[in-house]
Amino acid sequence: MRLLLAAAGFLFACFSVLAQPATQERLKIVQGDPVALKAAVEAGRKASFFCANCHGETGVSKSQEIPNLAGQNAAYLLEQIRKFGSGERKDPFMQGLIKVLKDDERVQIALFFASQASARSKADAGLVARGKELFGKLCTRCHGDDAHGNEQYPRLAGQNLVYLQSSITRYRDGTGVRNNQLMSIATAPLKNDDIVAIVNYLTQLP
Ligand code: HEC
Ligand code: HEC
Repeated sequence: MRLLLAAAGFLFACFSVLAQPATQERLKIVQGDPVALKAAVEAGRKASFFCANCHGETGVSKSQEIPNLAGQNAAYLLEQIRKFGSGERKDPFMQGLIKVLKDDERVQIALFFASQASARSKADAGLVARGKELFGKLCTRCHGDDAHGNEQYPRLAGQNLVYLQSSITRYRDGTGVRNNQLMSIATAPLKNDDIVAIVNYLTQLP
């Protein structure tokens, strides 16, 4: 019965939510079913063995340039995987790698990393207060007061400093590596010093 309902829900979602790719609907269905969720997380752990080389076994990455995936929102992870696959987001290595993942594996990997405990890093204590002020003014309305995000917006708390800095700068400068209109607008007023303060604030947040 549960399977039948899930199948019906999935078909309904496919026909009704045209704006949403089918994999996002699949993710929601699995998230709503504790048994399926547990199985998907386990499958994701296995399917992500290669990702561990850079992102770490539990999604806490091994270098400052590489984003942590642990504790990130699953819907956001899945959307970024889709963007690498379609070439909307550019990274030569990630684009090639993502192409070989099947839809099911994408959902499982997103759920696995989302389920892992997030990390945090040390910051320059002298910059944190200024970063907090800027973030509160310009960023919390989407990313949340605690910078944990939600289904629509990524978690930023505890993310690696160098990765945060390059991502924010890319949105601001319109380099074409990452395209998102909301983020282009949000980052437009930031000076380089502002970005440095914001990323020092974010990287030390729990
Ligand atoms: C050789 C190292 C390497 C491997 C292996 C790797 N990644 Fe990545 N990944 C990166 C780097 C570097 C970035 C950041 C790219 C950028 O600057 O935008 C990234 C970014 C990402 C992002 C975007 C995160 C965010 O916060 O926006 C996701 C999702 C991701 N990788 C998933 C995966 C998955 C899934 C695998 C395994 C199938 C994988 N990666 C394997 C290096 C790697
Ligand atoms: C109107 C909503 C909105 C506001 C305001 C906003 N963001 Fe974002 N942010 C987003 C969305 C949506 C994304 C995902 C974009 C994408 O797919 O590339 C994002 C992505 C990001 C990322 C990439 C995270 C990752 O893991 O790669 C960073 C960093 C970021 N935002 C920082 C900020 C900062 C700093 C501010 C304030 C100056 C800000 N955002 C304000 C909506 C917003």
